[in-house]
Amino acid sequence: MTGRPPNQPFGVKSENLTIVEHRVATSSRAQRNGHAGGVLWFTGLSGAGKSTLAMAVEQHLFGKGYQVYVLDGDNIRSGLNANLGFSPADRAENIRRVGEAAALFANAGILCIAAFISPYRSDRERARQAAGKAFHEIHIDADLAICEQRDPKGLYAKARAGEIEDFTGVSAPYEAPADPELTVDSGDRSIAACVQDIVTYVERAFKLK
Ligand SMILES: Nc1ncnc2c1ncn2[C@@H]1O[C@H](COP(=O)(O)OP(=O)(O)O)[C@@H](O)[C@H]1O
Ligand SMILES: [Mg+2]
Repeated sequence: MTGRPPNQPFGVKSENLTIVEHRVATSSRAQRNGHAGGVLWFTGLSGAGKSTLAMAVEQHLFGKGYQVYVLDGDNIRSGLNANLGFSPADRAENIRRVGEAAALFANAGILCIAAFISPYRSDRERARQAAGKAFHEIHIDADLAICEQRDPKGLYAKARAGEIEDFTGVSAPYEAPADPELTVDSGDRSIAACVQDIVTYVERAFKLK
């Protein structure tokens, strides 16, 4: 099974937990789907292209027969994580929940694309621990200047005007991955080329049988 062993909880409040075992093996799920489950964790600045590439890669891989689903920052923040803001503590909790949710998708046999700024290394590391070997960190890498120029949601302009606090790259840090499984240079290349990079990586790492 992917993920941490059930006897290694961290930060668990309850004392009377009994972990139950699934009767469907991870390998049986992979056999049915034709590929293993996993987490493709997209991290990068706002405007780097995480959402654009996540949805394009999802569509592409689905067309090829993969079981694939995107968890996207803004979507999750309007539902599961609606009670969280952008302070370091809330960002940590945002990513903790998403890391756990993505690991559940991976355990269910699905390729889960998680598209979150996730600026703190420690938060991403925790997400990696939740999914274990199934975790693949993908840096969607565009320079701040390019992201700010794109400003697809007008957020950099608002942040520069002081209308948004704790904005990554402007008034809050972004800690780039030190050793990601894949770096996608999304700054000055086409969307199609970036999608192809990721699809090629997935086809190598999660071979369809
Ligand atoms: N190579 C590329 N990859 C991804 N997005 C790109 C690329 N080139 C230009 N763009 C544009 O950059 C913007 C990225 O926005 P978005 O996907 O919402 O970023 P994020 O989700 O990382 O905040 C979109 O308007 C997209 O069309
Ligand atoms: Mg986005």
